[in-house]
Amino acid sequence: MKQFFFEPMSNEDLSWFLSVRNSVRQYLHNSREFILEDAQIWFMNLGDLEYYKIFILQENGLRVKIGYIRFRNIDKSNIGEIGLDLDPKYQGLKLSVQAYAEFARANKAQCKVWTLRVRKSNQRAFSLYTKLGFIVVGEFYSNELEENEYLMLVHVEHVASITNQIG
Ligand SMILES: CC(C)(COP(=O)(O)OP(=O)(O)OC[C@H]1O[C@@H](n2cnc3c(N)ncnc32)[C@H](O)[C@@H]1OP(=O)(O)O)[C@@H](O)C(=O)NCCC(=O)NCCS
Repeated sequence: MKQFFFEPMSNEDLSWFLSVRNSVRQYLHNSREFILEDAQIWFMNLGDLEYYKIFILQENGLRVKIGYIRFRNIDKSNIGEIGLDLDPKYQGLKLSVQAYAEFARANKAQCKVWTLRVRKSNQRAFSLYTKLGFIVVGEFYSNELEENEYLMLVHVEHVASITNQIG
């Protein structure tokens, strides 16, 4: 049976985090490649409203880190900015809908609405967000990325209500 866990990211996770982050950087808002020293400084300076959790898959008693969740509480109560990046080895396995649903159940008291920005070209992520119930509330051009991005939002309660879909 597959089970998910979310554990706070620590300094020991930084080199693993960085290799995942750099390998998916073409999908992110900042597609620069970072080095470990950058990541250490960034992690030390993360603000109170922002945190990263390691997304762990447990199967047959074995635990593997498969990605990370990033979360920022924008107004300290109602609106949070969310994101999930998976290690390429674990992409395309349909793990992310369930991960978001479990994370929503664990965190729905923390905020009511999740928002995110996604590149218009990132069709896989866009399909996922649509499946989770996110709706597009804006589209704008990013000079930095030289492409359009969507601003999307969803009620956390809706994501939390998604039932078990993995075996
Ligand atoms: C985006 C991401 C979290 C999705 O997780 P995942 O577990 O790989 O996604 P899934 O396997 O559940 O696939 C999601 C859906 O997209 C569909 N999909 C896959 N590739 C696609 C493509 N190229 N175009 C359109 N849809 C695609 C899948 O078929 C699936 O829909 P379905 O269940 O109806 O078949 C993961 O791929 C990832 O970490 N990507 C790199 C980083 C990233 O893009 N982060 C998000 C930045 S906003």
